[in-house]
Amino acid sequence: MIQRRTLALATLAALASFTAHAAEPIKIGFLVKQAEEPWFQDEWRFAEQAAKEKGFTLVKIGIPNGEKMMAAIDNLAAQKVQGFVICAPDVKLGAAVSRAAKRHKLKVMSVDDQLVDGAGKPIADIPHMGISGYEIGKQVGQGLAEEIKARGWNLAEVGALRIAFDQLPTARERTQGALDALKAAGLPAANLVDAPQAKTDTESAFNAANIAFTKNAKFKHWVAFGLNDEAVLGAVRAGEGRGLKQDAMLGIGIGGSQTALNEFSKPTPTAFFGTVLISPKRHGYETALNVYQWVAENKQPAALTLTSGTLMTRKNQAEVRKQMGLQ
Ligand code: GLA
Repeated sequence: MIQRRTLALATLAALASFTAHAAEPIKIGFLVKQAEEPWFQDEWRFAEQAAKEKGFTLVKIGIPNGEKMMAAIDNLAAQKVQGFVICAPDVKLGAAVSRAAKRHKLKVMSVDDQLVDGAGKPIADIPHMGISGYEIGKQVGQGLAEEIKARGWNLAEVGALRIAFDQLPTARERTQGALDALKAAGLPAANLVDAPQAKTDTESAFNAANIAFTKNAKFKHWVAFGLNDEAVLGAVRAGEGRGLKQDAMLGIGIGGSQTALNEFSKPTPTAFFGTVLISPKRHGYETALNVYQWVAENKQPAALTLTSGTLMTRKNQAEVRKQMGLQ
């Protein structure tokens, strides 16, 4: 008897929740700082895949600055979105994101760039998925060191061009990892050349690299690294403009999206030697799914998930991408 009643109650509860959902379709927002960058387009594509599989609507908005970001969050609320994933244009906007989400009763999770508070501390109640910046940076540095050795370059004559974007913690960690690995391989500390970029795109990296090359003409060879493929590509293009081709310069990026693939598909190899392939599938599909499950099933995402990467070069690109489920 009791059992039957429990069952009937459970059925009722299930029906009630079904009706509630049927009345209110689930919508998840996905806000990214640089919608034009292939990495973010890939993230959106994989988030769409999660939306299709689970039957929710994905609302994608590019947020190149703080003002657009705030407007986008209000816009999501007006569209009756229940939660969103965000890669903010500036991580210091963390408190503003947190306040806006609370005001609109929206669940929020960050991706790629972890939001911080006024004191620079990660905001604890915003779950985050990012890459393990320092480790991935080390893979970049080790890849560069191996190729320097394979080419028989003398480390004393190699300039290490760090395209820097130090206001972003993950960028700092990535380039620090690369630098530490190069130093561990024997690069003299004095050979480090810092080239701060104003924005995290190819053009800013190109400008930063040009200034650095002008000031440091003494090196015979160069290696370049930065926070993403666009940073390294900018350095490679600047090098080419000064006659530093792939026999004099080497760069390894981070990403592995179309920016890197376009470079690998050129008939003649450029100085863009490789990239550490990271997973837009995990960052796009999983974060969208996490927020969906948070809204639909009240299942809170893990506080912090750090993803790994694999060194990919012109030679092994097809194989590595396949392993990552990206073919
Ligand atoms: C940052 C960079 C992007 C990409 C992601 C990966 O947001 O700006 O280019 O590398 O990290 O997490």
